[in-house]
Amino acid sequence: MAKNIQAIRGMKDILPEQTPLWQFLEDTVRSVLSRYGYGEIRMPIVELTELFKRSIGEVTDIVEKEMYTFDDRNGDSLTLRPEGTAGCVRAGLEHGLLFNQVQRLWYRGPMFRHERPQKGRYRQFHQIGVESFGLEGPDVDLEQILITHRIWRELGLDGLELQLNTLGTAEERTAYKVLLVDYFRSRIDELDADSRRRLESNPLRILDTKNPDMAAVVSDAPTLMDHLGDASRAHFETLCAGLDAAGVAYVINPRLVRGLDYYARTVFEWVTTRLGAQGTVCAGGRYDGLVKQLGGRPTPAVGFAMGLERLIALLEEGETAKRLPSVDLYLVMMGETAQREGVQLAERLRDELPDLRLIVNCGGGGFKSQFKKADKSNARYALIFGDDELANGEVGIKPLRGEGEQQQVKLSELAGIIAGLTA
Ligand code: HAM
Repeated sequence: MAKNIQAIRGMKDILPEQTPLWQFLEDTVRSVLSRYGYGEIRMPIVELTELFKRSIGEVTDIVEKEMYTFDDRNGDSLTLRPEGTAGCVRAGLEHGLLFNQVQRLWYRGPMFRHERPQKGRYRQFHQIGVESFGLEGPDVDLEQILITHRIWRELGLDGLELQLNTLGTAEERTAYKVLLVDYFRSRIDELDADSRRRLESNPLRILDTKNPDMAAVVSDAPTLMDHLGDASRAHFETLCAGLDAAGVAYVINPRLVRGLDYYARTVFEWVTTRLGAQGTVCAGGRYDGLVKQLGGRPTPAVGFAMGLERLIALLEEGETAKRLPSVDLYLVMMGETAQREGVQLAERLRDELPDLRLIVNCGGGGFKSQFKKADKSNARYALIFGDDELANGEVGIKPLRGEGEQQQVKLSELAGIIAGLTA
């Protein structure tokens, strides 16, 4: 027998038993975003490779080692998007959405990174991303953090920690990099090979090292926070004051540098200790230079993206997952007439109760086999429509989970009783 073809490593199917939780997550986020006036944008999954090189940065893990890049039949180098910000800016520029105007946008969908798969880290994963353009003040940074904070509340997630930092402006970072390089040179023996290479190309990323042997050299390094200009400092302090006023707790983490090069000033991450090494569930920040870097006029921008797989993993531990709706009713029918009338009955119930989840038995079968199927469907109740019920103008309702007797209900009262049972 031929061997079954399997899904690609690090790329997961999301099965029907899991999708209600995904839908709950996506619906909750979508609802919050629309209540803050953010509009959805949908971009292609594939873009020119050049776009990601120019935005994420040549010397980043994503561009150096994680992109799914290939030549198409015309010989153009294309890449499966590793993130959504670059494509969103590209689309905004292409359609004239960014010049001299304010935009509040969001998107969702699969992203692709060829990382080593492990719990919470996949090669195809899903993000919901949020971007706003044309606003330079810390008020919109605050707005976005408040959005995330509200999303966690509405999802019933607690125990997430907000980490905050500022990376200053490009000029401030350039001056700081000189200091940082001098410092690391003075302790070059303590740097690993990767960091020595980054000393020339991207010294800030050394601060982001996951190598425990470098903890001491990194923790003694000068911080950018101590070398900010007045405007950057004021921006950061106003954001912090806004968070204090809103009662949103945060931790300032001067080592938070992010893995993409386009950030300036505010950066933030929401982290949890409940997911092992992959504890960041949402991350983002300000990227005032990116629109110009991609060919537009200078346009301030700020955004973030949340990793849906990681949020799902947290939700699976909580109470919400257990309360999610499954099928309400499974209609069991015996006899030809009941079968014909049963389909009409089901349609009338669907008209009257728009939220009802009702499966009508297909494929006939005796009572026993229909009840087996009803049980497998995870429905809460079986509706029974046989010869006796047909003759009496009634329907039987039998609980399939837990205790309770079958009751006979008049057809005329059925919708009201079901509404009460499934509320
Ligand atoms: P990022 O930090 O690369 O930022 O990704 C955002 C989130 O996506 C992460 O915090 C994590 O939850 C999730 N994520 C990333 N890689 C994986 C993976 N391999 N498997 C599972 N989840 C993953 C960005 O992508 C920026 N575009 C965010 C942004 C928007 N900044 C400004 N605007």
